[in-house]
Amino acid sequence: MKILAFNGSPRSTGNTATMLEHAIKGAREKGAEVELFNLYTMQFSGCISCFSCKRLGKERTTLCAVKDDLRPVLEKVRDIDGLLIASPIYFGSESAACRALIERLCFPYLNYADYTKSHFPRRIPVGLIYTMNVTADMWTRVGYEVNFGRTRDTLAREFGSCTMVLAHNTTQYKDYSLYEANATGEEKKAYRDAHFSKDCENARLLGEGLVSGIQPNS
Ligand SMILES: Cc1cc2nc3c(=O)[nH]c(=O)nc-3n(C[C@H](O)[C@H](O)[C@H](O)COP(=O)(O)O)c2cc1C
Repeated sequence: MKILAFNGSPRSTGNTATMLEHAIKGAREKGAEVELFNLYTMQFSGCISCFSCKRLGKERTTLCAVKDDLRPVLEKVRDIDGLLIASPIYFGSESAACRALIERLCFPYLNYADYTKSHFPRRIPVGLIYTMNVTADMWTRVGYEVNFGRTRDTLAREFGSCTMVLAHNTTQYKDYSLYEANATGEEKKAYRDAHFSKDCENARLLGEGLVSGIQPNS
């Protein structure tokens, strides 16, 4: 089983990368071959609305026409059996690079004539990981369930199924006394000690589940 994994955080060892590593570990433990891409080391744009992927006739293709670092990766997507996408939340959305990936990944497979019939030839599972500053109770209060539920539904519609795993109230700085923040370093550390290893375990189960078909409840 081949899986592509995308880190949508500019920090290669931050919360998002750590959660994603656990998901990759879970998938590899179940025998999957996983290739990781750190989106912030690549040069690429979002969809440029050229509509090449919507042209009818012999020119028709589900490979995005934009020639940049993402194109060879999108070529690989045609042959994979699963996807892992991880992003920090930036201003109530995915990071810019992750948004750009989702546009380029999903639009060529979106069937403009019938949204219910994806052009992706198989049904494959997608694991979606978000890390964020907001607490678990704020997740619903600030509308994130709706925002990110939309991304989950888009990925599920084009690829088959999508399961979301979250890490709330993450630690952003090593030393909170040096930065502006809405909590003290002690408060953040106490929350992280109580929750982050469980979040990482959920991410590991997410990776396992892409291979076994059994997903964590989160
Ligand atoms: C530009 C920027 C915008 C952010 N916006 C949000 C936000 O809207 N909601 C939220 O919960 N956290 C927000 N955060 C916090 C990050 O999502 C959170 O700390 C995340 O875990 C960082 O992941 P990383 O360690 O992989 O970089 C923001 C952080 C940055 C740098």
